[in-house]
Amino acid sequence: MDKLQVVGGKRLEGEIVISGAKNAALPILCAGLLTSGDLELSNVPRLHDVKTILKLLAQTGLAVSQDDERVTLNGSAITTLEAPYELVKTMRASILVLGPLLARFGEAKVSLPGGCAIGSRPVDQHIKGLRALGAEITIEGGYIYAKCKKLKGARIRTDMITVTGTENLLMAATLAEGETVLENAAREPEVTDLANLLVAMGAKIEGIGTDRLVIQGVAELHGARHAVISDRIEAATFLCAVAATGGDILLKNTRTDYFDVALDKLREIGLVMTMGPASIRAQMGGRPKPVSFRTTEYPGFPTDMQAQFMAVNTIASGASRITETIFENRFMHVQEMNRLGASIQTEGNTAHVKGVDRLVGAPVMATDLRASASLVIAAMAAQGTTIIDRIYHLDRGYDRMEVKLSAVGANIVRIK
Ligand code: EPU
Repeated sequence: MDKLQVVGGKRLEGEIVISGAKNAALPILCAGLLTSGDLELSNVPRLHDVKTILKLLAQTGLAVSQDDERVTLNGSAITTLEAPYELVKTMRASILVLGPLLARFGEAKVSLPGGCAIGSRPVDQHIKGLRALGAEITIEGGYIYAKCKKLKGARIRTDMITVTGTENLLMAATLAEGETVLENAAREPEVTDLANLLVAMGAKIEGIGTDRLVIQGVAELHGARHAVISDRIEAATFLCAVAATGGDILLKNTRTDYFDVALDKLREIGLVMTMGPASIRAQMGGRPKPVSFRTTEYPGFPTDMQAQFMAVNTIASGASRITETIFENRFMHVQEMNRLGASIQTEGNTAHVKGVDRLVGAPVMATDLRASASLVIAAMAAQGTTIIDRIYHLDRGYDRMEVKLSAVGANIVRIK
């Protein structure tokens, strides 16, 4: 199992090119199941999760051709309407094939994802919504069996805001008969990117970017070309890295308009940012100031940035309070950061962080994707050497993070 060895205390300086967004690419690739036409996608990130979803899609009979960050899909010869446990258990986003398969072929068998490190994460809202669209759904032997003659438009209000739930129902509704109204829809930029692709494929969707999506079903969708949006979480992760280590970096192929809250918090920390049309220059000198926040759905503070900001807070010039409201168990990095000398105490879903003068390198273990990134940041800010174990979590969602960070001066190597 690969590990990362990080020697801390290096200032970051140089340019980093941001990759396409993981959480936009995954649903967008699944949209390839909705049409017999060619879907030509660019800016698809090189990630383990992308490999997993392509493997899953290929075993349905979807033709996949890939040239680095370009992927072309063709769904004219789908043969298997199934997502097996072996793949779903490794990646929950596999549930995103359910809506498209059911809507286009009237049938799907998808393994129920189990719980995961950050919480129980049920998919009851996906099922509730598809039932409202007329699907008959049974659960047996750990599998969701879904059937319908033709999905029929309906008004659906999910009990909570769910990102992949909204995406699954949105994809299903594009091929349903009549009008579907999705209320309480997730507004994440990744949902908007999927909706824009679906429109390019011939779907009729109004209210894109709002919490009320109105979809007029069409008989079929056609092929399209689409560039996946750049990854706001990857960009914000590198901004946290420079806030923790000090330095001067230029992020390229990024946007500045869809992570306002995180950028505001970074300014509070003391990061100086200059925005270009598709770039952010970030400069940091001196010790970070502490920032308190609560994670919420978009446009609030993203849960996917909670751990990385906590890493910066561990060495800030004061105390901060972080409340996680989206997932029930997303503080697994706390114990690992404390091993590096941080002073963090949790109380229910709130973490109280007291900034310390210095962290000191130690062996630590990555527990999930964003926790891994936060440990890389903490290790880069620490004195001495940190070994981060179970780095496969990082590879699921960051495109060669250690290569990008080494190129801007970090001392970080992968140990095979
Ligand atoms: N929920 C339910 N029932 C459902 C669906 C969700 O109870 O049917 C609950 C979840 O358990 C959670 C909350 O609702 O407590 C929100 O979950 P959501 O469905 O929005 O999460 P997700 O769609 O499974 C996506 C991202 C996550 C990100 C969350 C929240 C993808 C592939 N994944 O997950 O990304 O944290 O939204 O923004 O888009 C990551 O990239 O590290 C990551 C975990």
